[in-house]
Amino acid sequence: MSSVTIQRGVDLQPFNSFRLTTKADKVVFFEHLEQWEDIRKLYLEHSPKVVVLGGGSNVLIKEDISGLVIFNRLKGISIVSETEEEVILKVAAGENWHDLVMYTVARNWGGLENLALIPGSVGAAPMQNIGAYGVELKEVLKSVETLRWESGAYRIFSKEECHFAYRSSIFKTTAKGKYLITGIQIRLRKAPSKFEISYGALADTLEEMGVQTLSVQAISEAVMHIRRSKLPDPKVLGNAGSFFKNPEIPEQQAFDLRRKYPDLPLYTLPDNMVKIPAAWLIEQCGWKGLQVGQTGNHAQQALVIVNYGQATGMEILNHALRVQASVESKFGIALESEVNIIPG
Ligand code: EPU
Repeated sequence: MSSVTIQRGVDLQPFNSFRLTTKADKVVFFEHLEQWEDIRKLYLEHSPKVVVLGGGSNVLIKEDISGLVIFNRLKGISIVSETEEEVILKVAAGENWHDLVMYTVARNWGGLENLALIPGSVGAAPMQNIGAYGVELKEVLKSVETLRWESGAYRIFSKEECHFAYRSSIFKTTAKGKYLITGIQIRLRKAPSKFEISYGALADTLEEMGVQTLSVQAISEAVMHIRRSKLPDPKVLGNAGSFFKNPEIPEQQAFDLRRKYPDLPLYTLPDNMVKIPAAWLIEQCGWKGLQVGQTGNHAQQALVIVNYGQATGMEILNHALRVQASVESKFGIALESEVNIIPG
């Protein structure tokens, strides 16, 4: 007898941060590693009509899912090893990301403080190399633990093997759909004294808060303060954070655009490339704060597309496509979605 229970005709609204009321034909929860063989069997039976979800905070479910949804709910946090200076932590994929950040901040372990309040699960973090306020997951990540759907084999990916890049990893590219992430190992600094506060508003916010001595606590609080002021709480207004990636374009193209748009913000990258804030491009096209039917672009952050309550997945997707088309026609820049659109 199978140790997993299949639920049928499940409303996915509580399981996606866009709060879309889409349905899945079948749903299972992967809670213990002992269920792996059963989960794997179900995966293979339903493939390719299978979707694996964690916190559901970086997906746009565009229509009902006619196959199987597997929710990764593996739990557990443990210390693998520690020295005077650092601690290696093993965290299961189904843990909540922000709860993990708070767990490490409470112990004065440094590394995750800039990544506070990012919605979603730990297992989703390496998929897109989550990042905020000058820090990306890859800076603390040691390895990613996986199971391979096809063979059932356990495999650990070292940080190098994950091919991390801006909002990308091997799990979004060549290894896409091949592995289930069961957990990660991260390397944190004990009682740290060095912090990353160079990003935009962070230093100013710390000053406004009257912080004299930097600490993981103070930084996480400043980050939470900034996020709360700009990004809508998905529990109140459905959204999936930034909808598009910040585009990276050749320096020359950016300089040409600057002649026409002198205010164009840009950040230099290696190899004569520059990064442009997608939010700026979208705002220039007039979308910021504009409600269109049940969707639109957030008034405090143009890069965030929201659900005002009754939007459908297709309505949000069509809106995103219109935003993308207007940026392309005004600036000649093709925005790429950061949110995963499912079913694919
Ligand atoms: N800007 C505008 N209009 C806006 C908002 C921003 O013109 O409505 C311009 C400003 O020039 C601003 C710049 O965009 O200085 C950057 O804005 P912000 O600091 O808000 O960051 P972002 O580039 O829009 C990225 C991440 C966020 C992350 C923040 C902070 C991506 C796709 N997004 O946003 O991540 O929280 O930086 O580090 O890289 C997410 O991935 O879901 C996410 C929220």
